[in-house]
Amino acid sequence: MQILHYNDDGNLYLENIDLTELCRTVSTPFYIYSETEIRNNCKRILHHGELFSLLPCYALKANYNPKIIHIIQTLGFGADVVSDGELQFALRSGISPQKIVFAGVGKSASEIEAAIREEIHSLNIESESELRAIAKISKKLKKNVVVAIRINPDIDAKTHPYISTGLHENKFGVDPATALRMFREASNHQYLKPEGIHIHLGSQIQSPAPYLESIRFILDFREKLLHENIKIKFVDLGGGIGIHYENQLDTRNTSRTFIDDILPQLLAPFRDTDLYLIIELGRAIVGSAGLLITKVLYKKETPQRNFAIIDAAMNNLIRPSLYQAYHQIVPLKDSGAETEVMDIVGPVCETGDYFARQREMPLINEGDYLAVTGAGAYGQVLSSNYNLRPRIAEYLVRDGNITTIFNGESIQTIMQQYL
Ligand code: LLP
Repeated sequence: MQILHYNDDGNLYLENIDLTELCRTVSTPFYIYSETEIRNNCKRILHHGELFSLLPCYALKANYNPKIIHIIQTLGFGADVVSDGELQFALRSGISPQKIVFAGVGKSASEIEAAIREEIHSLNIESESELRAIAKISKKLKKNVVVAIRINPDIDAKTHPYISTGLHENKFGVDPATALRMFREASNHQYLKPEGIHIHLGSQIQSPAPYLESIRFILDFREKLLHENIKIKFVDLGGGIGIHYENQLDTRNTSRTFIDDILPQLLAPFRDTDLYLIIELGRAIVGSAGLLITKVLYKKETPQRNFAIIDAAMNNLIRPSLYQAYHQIVPLKDSGAETEVMDIVGPVCETGDYFARQREMPLINEGDYLAVTGAGAYGQVLSSNYNLRPRIAEYLVRDGNITTIFNGESIQTIMQQYL
């Protein structure tokens, strides 16, 4: 089935849903996701992992709507969590503790304790101080805890600096010499079980090259540990596989994610090892499944620029403002061949509140609806109430029907939280 396409009537459809028709019954802006696309992305990942002992984990930070987590859980995925909130959402969505990995540079004592009590698969350790904190808590609880040390290999993932994590200047992980010391210390501890190496290079990675470099590093490092009699059982390769933001429409011979381009090459070097593999994918699973639907409120022409002012803003989708990220924006009704160069901006009182600058767009009019594509990951989860704008509703296309999976806030629900 085509996921996102224009039908013969010139209307944009998500699966079988005519989005123009939908906008007659629900108010904009809103997020809408395709369950089929989420499933397809998961199935692709499972397919590539068939010949390996692979635990694919879903990085909840990309989109923690429980209905979405649940879809992914039913396909056998585990979870990558970075807070007590994500741990609780993962468990509540039916993910077994044995399939949960907990990462993050600043886990609090209560988060560490919750993770140990739940007997999750592993905790990824990011500093020597954290190693000691986990050691202390495991001793207090008299419980074993499997840990992986996150090594920062100093490899450039060639992505936006804010989402690049594997360079020494980044706050993540520890350098190889420190990691070696930590493995020694952990392996001499009564309750710590240092069984894994963790690496995460960054996000929106578009080529296998940085991964392959990091894998060479991991396999070398594993040898070093073996010389010290420390045996690694698993490697957590992190996440980061990107999506094709420039082309999210269904056209022949295009894929909306980099899963097929990267994952097989990423797994291949492990074919002859007995290592258990973990990956922590967020964007590649949900990114291409989501749209932000918005309405053009006004057009404004100045001698320098043509603006389309839409009803969605940076508080709903901050990626363009924060990372200068590109999102393909398409009208819900195909208006034909004529185009104009536009700035597409939101109503928030900041110049940085924009979705596209100097973008060639099909001719659009006030009252038209637009779809911001590739908005399923790091969209709603990064939203805020800035300018006192309520968080918007989320819908899911499931079995050809629309279900509401987040009601959206109202001013009243926000106001109630203030004393
Ligand atoms: N594992 C770790 C340790 C991570 O830090 C992340 C993402 C992931 C896995 C999942 O990465 P993914 O497969 O989704 O690329 N807000 C930014 C992205 C931040 C990513 C943070 N860490 C954006 O909108 O591009």
